[in-house]
Amino acid sequence: MTGPDAAPARIDTSRPHPARVYDWWLGGKDNYPVDEELARRILAVDDTAVRGARANRRFMQRAVRAAAEAGVRQFLDIGTGIPTEPNLHQVAQGVAPESRVVYADNDPIVLRHAEALLTGSAQGSTDYVHADVREPGTILDLAARSLDFSRPVALSLVALTHYLSDAADGDDVHGLLKRYVDALAPGSHLIVSQVTPDLNPEAVGRAAELFARNGTPFHPRSLTEFARFFAGLRLLGPGIIPVTGWRPEPVDVAAQAEGIVPVYAGVAVKP
Ligand SMILES: C[S@@+](CC[C@H](N)C(=O)[O-])C[C@H]1O[C@@H](n2cnc3c(N)ncnc32)[C@H](O)[C@@H]1O
Repeated sequence: MTGPDAAPARIDTSRPHPARVYDWWLGGKDNYPVDEELARRILAVDDTAVRGARANRRFMQRAVRAAAEAGVRQFLDIGTGIPTEPNLHQVAQGVAPESRVVYADNDPIVLRHAEALLTGSAQGSTDYVHADVREPGTILDLAARSLDFSRPVALSLVALTHYLSDAADGDDVHGLLKRYVDALAPGSHLIVSQVTPDLNPEAVGRAAELFARNGTPFHPRSLTEFARFFAGLRLLGPGIIPVTGWRPEPVDVAAQAEGIVPVYAGVAVKP
């Protein structure tokens, strides 16, 4: 377990954290009353929040399986979240036990639970980096201790980019993604999902406002803005699509029938 602040950091229970709010929506136990309160308030204005969290998790699993089945054996997952089975390494190593996985997140609660992410197969490896996605140099350097960046890597940023602002507001999410994608070898996969205002603008707007008022700036993005993440890459079928529609498996059909969730998803390959 590595990273600039890998010593146990204090968990702030005085304000909600996105990882813990998401954990509440997923039915997890690693959240505090402040998180539950915000999760419930968002759910009251956007009744897709629980379905959206589950749909994201399922998308991560399908996209990782697709990358592993395409032959990718290295995975870098930024914005990992609190462990929720099956975790990414379990999916990747389920296809290819020799898969090497590096997780990265900046929340102390994810660091505290990282042991659950470090229990991979004997043939493969898992590592955890405690760092912020806005420090690509740190994450890429530390990931390079177990990943070989001259070979394909699947980079997953699932339900992360809506916490990052555009260039004008400081984070430069598109510049950041370019920095990561530039570090990848041909054949690498980029797996991204994020909340959009296109599909349910009023509910998403109110949810974003609640996040922002509680200390987490939130940036839903249109289809055009989301598509920019994949500039220069070859999108895999079915392209950019609401998250439940990305290569659904039989188990996902019931979720699809419950209705659309305002989250775009896409997977692309670096030529
Ligand atoms: C909604 S959760 C998604 C978890 C997982 N990717 C999934 O889809 O199931 C977002 C995660 O991104 C992390 N996160 C938010 N901002 C971050 C940042 N600037 N750097 C690293 N991680 C961040 C949060 O701590 C949280 O664990």
